Amino acid sequence: MRRAVCPGSFDPITNGHLDIVERAAKLFDEVVVAVGVNPSKNRLFEPEERKALVEQATAGLDNVRVLGFTGLIVDFCREVDAVAIVKGLRGSVDYEYELPMAQMNSHLTSVETVFLPGAVTNAFVSSSLIKEVAGMGGDVSGLVPDFVRDHLLARLAERRTTP
Ligand code: PNS
Repeated sequence: MRRAVCPGSFDPITNGHLDIVERAAKLFDEVVVAVGVNPSKNRLFEPEERKALVEQATAGLDNVRVLGFTGLIVDFCREVDAVAIVKGLRGSVDYEYELPMAQMNSHLTSVETVFLPGAVTNAFVSSSLIKEVAGMGGDVSGLVPDFVRDHLLARLAERRTTP
């Protein structure tokens, strides 16, 4: 059994994330989507909400399961007995951000990082931009699953009415 981990903050999950998870699920026997916290990013959804959205988005993928994690991703990989971390790269900015993390994780353990090129159609799709555009009334349909868009719009509306 060769297991891979797809880590991220998924705030919220996008079609770009889903493409990477689906392709990782074809390469490995099992994929664990690891929902973590990125302290350098402002989050809109709580960890349990983000995990629930990922679960719903990946429900049709038989060899994918979703877990929350805290601490080092390499420790999580050891806990779930994963041989690889799979990350998507949309372009050179992602590469510059991901490479030192992959090298650090390789220094810490034997877990390999596998980079998959993001689909061209998702090159501009990020959770941060999705939140910004939706927050200013832009239409994010087709960039996230419809149920994620609906949760996002509901949360943004709550934020506007809650002081
Ligand atoms: O989707 P994101 O925000 O890029 O996800 C980042 C995340 C949570 C996957 C990353 O910050 C992470 O792996 N955090 C765990 C802590 C850790 O292992 N840090 C050292 C990485 S070399």
